Amino acid sequence: MKFFLDTANLNEIRDVASWGILDGVTTNPSLMARENMPFADLVKAIGEIVSGPISVECVSERAPDIIAEGRALAKAGPNIAVKIPITIEGLKATKVLSGEGIMVNTTLIFSSPQALLAAKAGAKFVSPFIGRLDDVGQDGMELIEEIVGMFENYAFPTEVIVASIRHPRHVVEAALIGADICTIPYAVMEKLVKHPLTDLGIERFLKDWGKVKK
Ligand code: E4P
Repeated sequence: MKFFLDTANLNEIRDVASWGILDGVTTNPSLMARENMPFADLVKAIGEIVSGPISVECVSERAPDIIAEGRALAKAGPNIAVKIPITIEGLKATKVLSGEGIMVNTTLIFSSPQALLAAKAGAKFVSPFIGRLDDVGQDGMELIEEIVGMFENYAFPTEVIVASIRHPRHVVEAALIGADICTIPYAVMEKLVKHPLTDLGIERFLKDWGKVKK
């Protein structure tokens, strides 16, 4: 499974990149708004750290505008994936941009037919938001299971990015289903590494090491 970081924060990206397990980054306008840096500079700076796919979101709503915005965003580098919300206009734009070899990440997916249509239009990635579904009382992971199963049935090359992850179990369950990618907030990424018994074990071993004759 590939690990993407769901952030636009350069310190977080630099840190996780240094762990040696980072495959890509996803951003969105809300994450961008938290950073005190002009948008284009931020995209460029992320590109200097990450060689894997970097998702950057379009905010246009009509297909011709999404296409123009997507082309402009893609100029920032060959690893830019243009994020487009799933709408009819978004589908039209996805078909055109994908046809030009631009990676499209269809975002704000909340149902399996939405994912199926995005794959059919040529999206490189689909991003189902599981945490937001859990928040409203639906089982987000059921959606991942359906999408992964559908894509397998027809050998769609579209990769499933499990998005809106809230805790480590989301990552484990996504891996058991066989989702291609999890995009994970920094705080959850840290929780994936840590366990109190590991900390306790290190503390005890270090204490005992002090008693070993050298
Ligand atoms: C995915 O690409 C989105 O940036 C993200 O996962 C949204 O998650 P949220 O529900 O925590 O905002």
